[in-house]
Amino acid sequence: MKYHKLTENAVKPDGFWGKLMIRSMNKGHSELTDWALTHFPIRSGSVVLDVGCGGGKTVGKLCDMVGSGKVYGIDYSGLCVKKAENLNRKNVLCNRAVIRQASVSSLPFEDEKFDAVTAVETYYFWPDKLGDLREIGRVLKRGGRLLLVFEMLADPDDPEKWKAVEKRLNIEAVTREGIEEMLDRAGYQNIRTYVRSGTTWLCATAEKE
Ligand SMILES: C[S@@+](CC[C@H](N)C(=O)[O-])C[C@H]1O[C@@H](n2cnc3c(N)ncnc32)[C@H](O)[C@@H]1O
Repeated sequence: MKYHKLTENAVKPDGFWGKLMIRSMNKGHSELTDWALTHFPIRSGSVVLDVGCGGGKTVGKLCDMVGSGKVYGIDYSGLCVKKAENLNRKNVLCNRAVIRQASVSSLPFEDEKFDAVTAVETYYFWPDKLGDLREIGRVLKRGGRLLLVFEMLADPDDPEKWKAVEKRLNIEAVTREGIEEMLDRAGYQNIRTYVRSGTTWLCATAEKE
């Protein structure tokens, strides 16, 4: 029961269980995010967006990387926006970080604003994956880069591995080929995927033409 309540709050954290889920995601996704960021160098001075920022841990990591740059986070959960702002209070107060409530399908930013966009463990929930990848492309500068991060890589030798969570949350684990194809169809170039050996972690990097 507790496990189910917690898991359901990964989709759009809210209320008591949402607060617990946010705390658990900030902790549980940290190592995955650090690993993925080793494949995604960010230059000092960059303007970066974290989509589906949850409790804001990745926003904090990005603030440490951008130097004089700026980090934006968006999430469609009001609770996440509040928690991410609290976690990044210092950077928010000096305007180095901005958190906004918004959907990935309609980003509240002008065209070609960002040098880089990250999205950690959120893609599964997007309502129109191809359209949403294109929407991210709209706000990326030419040559700007996208990082997608996943811990639910499908295992052809163990098709039952993610069945329970897929069914409960109405989502699908990803494949390397599936993500590469979506990025290609959405118009990205220089697509690369990385799997951390001994895990089900996958990250994909791509560039806007
Ligand atoms: C599993 S959590 C990951 C949160 C955070 N990125 C992390 O790694 O801890 C998924 C997040 O994506 C957000 N999300 C899901 N669908 C979204 C959408 N369509 N637009 C914006 N945010 C979305 C949820 O509210 C949630 O905070």
